Amino acid sequence: MKLEINKAVQFLAAGKVESYEAEVKAAQQALEDGTCAGNDFLGWLHLPSSITPAFIAEINDTANTLKANCDAIVVAGIGGSYLGAKAVIAALDDNFTWLKPSNAPRILFAGNNISEDYLTELIEYLKGVKFGVINISKSGTTTETAITFRLMKKLCEDQMGKDMAKKVIVAITDAKKGAARTCADKEGYKTFVIPDNVGGRFSVLTPVGLLPIACAGYDIAQLVKGAQDMEKQCDINVPFAENPCAVYAATRNALYASGKKIEILVNYQPKLHFVSEWWKQLYGESEGKDKKAIFPASVDFSTDLHSMGQWIQDGERTIFETVISIDKPNSSLTVPADDENLDGLNFLAGKHIDEVNHKAELGTQLAHIDGGVPNLRISIPKLDEYNLGQLIYFFEKGCGVSGLLLGVNPFNQPGVEAYKKNMFALLDKPGYEAESKAIQSRL
Ligand code: PA5
Repeated sequence: MKLEINKAVQFLAAGKVESYEAEVKAAQQALEDGTCAGNDFLGWLHLPSSITPAFIAEINDTANTLKANCDAIVVAGIGGSYLGAKAVIAALDDNFTWLKPSNAPRILFAGNNISEDYLTELIEYLKGVKFGVINISKSGTTTETAITFRLMKKLCEDQMGKDMAKKVIVAITDAKKGAARTCADKEGYKTFVIPDNVGGRFSVLTPVGLLPIACAGYDIAQLVKGAQDMEKQCDINVPFAENPCAVYAATRNALYASGKKIEILVNYQPKLHFVSEWWKQLYGESEGKDKKAIFPASVDFSTDLHSMGQWIQDGERTIFETVISIDKPNSSLTVPADDENLDGLNFLAGKHIDEVNHKAELGTQLAHIDGGVPNLRISIPKLDEYNLGQLIYFFEKGCGVSGLLLGVNPFNQPGVEAYKKNMFALLDKPGYEAESKAIQSRL
């Protein structure tokens, strides 16, 4: 993975990024020493290097049991208990996976909304299908996930029988507490623990991400290897200028301080759409506190050049872009020659589609710089498990350092509770009587 910032620093005073070096070092040291805000949630920091081959084998064994017995697997989870797995699987899957035959079970994500139509349509699809469930919830009490799991458990037991259901339902949750743990222990499900010191949005390299990814047929050992190598590249002892997470954290904070309030993560591959969704949660939930922080947004180019391109080129100049670029595609396709050339495209005949895509990327970058949009660029050689593992750890460490530079606790999410409190009050949840009364008086 390579990070280029030269097309961003031209918008900053000379030496601005380097001026963060001492602060970045202090943030890295605080992470290492566990002296920063949120220090009870630093389990992600050296997580990759702590993953053993035996642990990977245990995850793969469970995935093999599910794969052998299921044609579909419902992954129930929301936020950090869903987006990492979704991002990696979507990035590696064939774009038309739904329409092509597959030996691997279909991975279906649910528990990430409260839509009656979504759940009804899911149940309709699953009727008569051999399916398993991975129930993922750190707290074990998240409403979206719990409603979905209640429905899925019943359907699975009704269709597969109670004994088989026990084999194909797996819980990934807290070691001791929460309804998901209570249920799993009572029913005798296989369980994996989400470590106490790893927050949801930093949990993709725990069973939260690894089990669904393995079930989808992908090489989790390579994913972890990529993250392990990036852990080394982002180590506190790597000099500032060579340390990608340090440079990324410094650059985005320098841009924020100069008035760039929105970071747009850009990709040129539709498969990366959910990597951006994962990244938005990681940075949004980690940094958006105390009435400050960069707003993380995303676009899929060139698609969105035809919708958001105008705004980015010429709207309010409070944005910067971080482009994820993939050096080489996994396939090979060229533009055919056409004797009649009615569409005038023969100047492209023989060229790879990817070459056109890269020229679109370069042309867009130059246009946006001309339009006053600083550009960072992250490139990876190809889209595979190893490089996704690198990206994941790079963004996680960059986020921890960046949040500390900003002066917030990057590892809590107190703001997420506000909607839950109101929802429970409106639904008359036992224990919320006073809140119910108060909220009714506001309506
Ligand atoms: O990052 C986070 O902590 C959140 O997004 C959680 O992952 C999300 O709210 C789901 O929580 P839980 O795993 O407890 O069901």
